[in-house]
Amino acid sequence: MGTGDGTYAYRLARSWPDILVIGLDSNAENLQEISHKASLKPSKGGLSNLILGQLSLEQSPGEVAGLADSISVILPWGSLLKAMALPEPELLHQLAQLGKPSSEIKIIFGYGLEADAAEIKALGLPDIDVNALRKAYCAAGFDVRVREIPVEEIREIPSKWAKKLAFSGKNRTFVEIKGCCR
Ligand SMILES: C[S@@+](CC[C@H](N)C(=O)[O-])C[C@H]1O[C@@H](n2cnc3c(N)ncnc32)[C@H](O)[C@@H]1O
Repeated sequence: MGTGDGTYAYRLARSWPDILVIGLDSNAENLQEISHKASLKPSKGGLSNLILGQLSLEQSPGEVAGLADSISVILPWGSLLKAMALPEPELLHQLAQLGKPSSEIKIIFGYGLEADAAEIKALGLPDIDVNALRKAYCAAGFDVRVREIPVEEIREIPSKWAKKLAFSGKNRTFVEIKGCCR
């Protein structure tokens, strides 16, 4: 969810040819380039195990209800970030409905008080607090561990947005929320 330009989903699908990867984003334009690449012949970068589609968290789970074994939200922004960071329990519930019962979930996000001051103000984002996030996710029905992650781990994420954040030189706190949907 929030797959952006689809690079992360594409690389995941290329690395795991036996797994079907579904990349969803509220903005279909973001997905056009990678969708085109994935539709080419395998010799030109085409992949038969990648599906990209337009779906917002707010409209989820829609037609993909209950399909996923594993759900990822990697470095969201905008309303998706807000839903993950506050968090917003009803929207987390909608996210979980994309998966099978007890599906795995992985969410990574981060922001910095100075670097992202405008976004923090606009979305009403709280200070990042690992314990408060764990409690809120558990109360929302998730069985998760939450840890702060170093920027070096963000650099390893195969997406342009991750590289942009990780190499910006700006101070940001990143967290990983990982576990399963109960
Ligand atoms: C920073 S971008 C890309 C993140 C991507 N995972 C990456 O690493 O390249 C965040 C994406 O979240 C999408 N997004 C924002 N709000 C959303 C929502 N409510 N539901 C689904 N996608 C959303 C945006 O359209 C955007 O493509």
